[in-house]
Amino acid sequence: MCGIVGYNGEKKAVPILINGLLSLEYRGYDSAGIAVLNNYSKEKKYKLEIVKDKGRVINLKNNEKTKNLIGNIGIAHTRWATHGIPSKENSHPHIDNTVKFAVVHNGIIENYILLRKKLINNGYKLYSETDTEVIPNLISMHYSGDILKAVSDTMKDLKGSYAIEVISEFFPDRIIIAKKDSPLVIGSGEKENYIASDIPAILSYTNKFYFLDDEEIAVVKKDSVEFYDINLSKIQKTTKTIEWDAQSNEKNGYEDFMLKEIYEQPNAVRETIGSRLSLSEKTNLNLEYIDFKKFNRIFIVGCGTAMHAGMAVKPIFEKFCKLPTEIDIASEFRYRNPLIDEHTLCIFISQSGETADTIAALKLAKSLNATTLSIVNVIGSSITRFSDYTIYTHAGPEIAVASTKAYTCQITLLSILAIYISEFLGYDDKNLQSFKASLLKLPEKLKKVLEQSDTIKKYAKKLYNQHDLYFIGRGSDYAVCMEGSLKLKEISYIHSEAYASGELKHGPIALIEKNTTIIGVITDSITAKKTLSNLEESISRGADVLLVTNQNIDNDKIDFTVNIPSTHPLLSPILSMVPLQFFAYYIAKLKNLDVDKPRNLAKSVTVE
Ligand code: F6R
Repeated sequence: MCGIVGYNGEKKAVPILINGLLSLEYRGYDSAGIAVLNNYSKEKKYKLEIVKDKGRVINLKNNEKTKNLIGNIGIAHTRWATHGIPSKENSHPHIDNTVKFAVVHNGIIENYILLRKKLINNGYKLYSETDTEVIPNLISMHYSGDILKAVSDTMKDLKGSYAIEVISEFFPDRIIIAKKDSPLVIGSGEKENYIASDIPAILSYTNKFYFLDDEEIAVVKKDSVEFYDINLSKIQKTTKTIEWDAQSNEKNGYEDFMLKEIYEQPNAVRETIGSRLSLSEKTNLNLEYIDFKKFNRIFIVGCGTAMHAGMAVKPIFEKFCKLPTEIDIASEFRYRNPLIDEHTLCIFISQSGETADTIAALKLAKSLNATTLSIVNVIGSSITRFSDYTIYTHAGPEIAVASTKAYTCQITLLSILAIYISEFLGYDDKNLQSFKASLLKLPEKLKKVLEQSDTIKKYAKKLYNQHDLYFIGRGSDYAVCMEGSLKLKEISYIHSEAYASGELKHGPIALIEKNTTIIGVITDSITAKKTLSNLEESISRGADVLLVTNQNIDNDKIDFTVNIPSTHPLLSPILSMVPLQFFAYYIAKLKNLDVDKPRNLAKSVTVE
């Protein structure tokens, strides 16, 4: 779960590499390093030079030694520690014993202990605790003049996941890259090529990208890119043009990416709806190759926020598609022998498209003959390549580690998918038209919710010193409570729990005492009174209550109410989640925390 960047061209490599690393810090920031081939033109010789240390990319940027890296070809890395503590020794790039090959790596080499033993038996010394250090040494061991063969032999030794970049004084005109189960893209420019773990890291330089598939190798020169499979047969690839706006990668005047991304939701949801949904025509998702009649059940699988989006849409699928719909956590699904066959539709949700557990769950579903359909935000990511079918949320790049706009866009797109399936199956649900109409109005209603930010900020001021908080709601509101609680935990480090309101009496009410804070979410008129009674029971035991609601609730015992616009009850999570995103954001700001890069977390979890 690290970020890697590469540059080969006519410009100085370091500024481009540093910019790329800064954009990739969401993938980890325990240490950072760069290797450049410096060209000492008088001697017509290239020298491999490395600067690296623990700490953030900014330290690397300000390091005096970085200024000496003047070459036009280089590789760089920002680390999220998996094997070995954050330290200079464990930082990338790693080199081989002959100091000829430098490697950066994202992923995990599962058989590294065996490989270390093999290298030590062959007289190699290893200086770090990392799994990565075996890679440059294996390349060195296999090298006898043909670097491609050395890299392909090394790939055959490795078990696990990797995206690697290799440079060497032996071939100063090229970067060799390879991947398996970790992301890597190549950006193509005029007499220059870029490499990165994701598109936004290099999107300000080019919008033409090559995508490397698993067990492929690329030779990235200044003015060409060649592709090979693991057995060194040549492969042809063409570039894809990415329409994302490079500006969307900047903060646009917002203090943090998370705040910017919260405010982008009306537009992101509008883009996700696009021309897919209209009141007068059938829904269009380009899924005509799927015969939805053959399914007798649906699984929706994801991790964290993506899984919570699944929880929010389960009742939508059950109501409009009339198919039993089960939600599962990818890391559970992959190990629990789920009942799946060719009559099962498995839907995978992922912002990054790189989450290791979701990929494993997807592979399992495929092996059991299910039809796999993924809801993904990042174009060309691994999940899109493994799935039978993909539909994209058009949320644009999400940089903050805490997911916000991806969540609302996932629910939006899944709702459109449920409508599509319902229409395909010929159900003439009289509610479908009003559901569609409500969906189309969401971007405007989201704007109204954003106007509540100051109110929520005021309440956050009252609460930011709390140690515990509880969220309660029923049905879709409970799904929102789960996500609200996750947001608060991950960026403000306040312990919180979400309960289905009806569960309060079955245990958690014992925790309620004077000044305990409860956040209630009430958006469904059918259960509103029930949750309101649960809140009253809590108030009578001393709790303070914040209520997010679209119901007309006038209760002077409630400390603070955030009123949101009403919508179809099954779509309310898209609106009711926004106040909870603001709430977590402002609490984290008041605690002076790094909102975009919370401790111990990474934006895409590419390891199990
Ligand atoms: C929380 C968060 C994570 C992700 C989870 C899945 O704010 O962002 O819980 O939702 O790691 O990530 P993706 O959607 O990239 O598969």
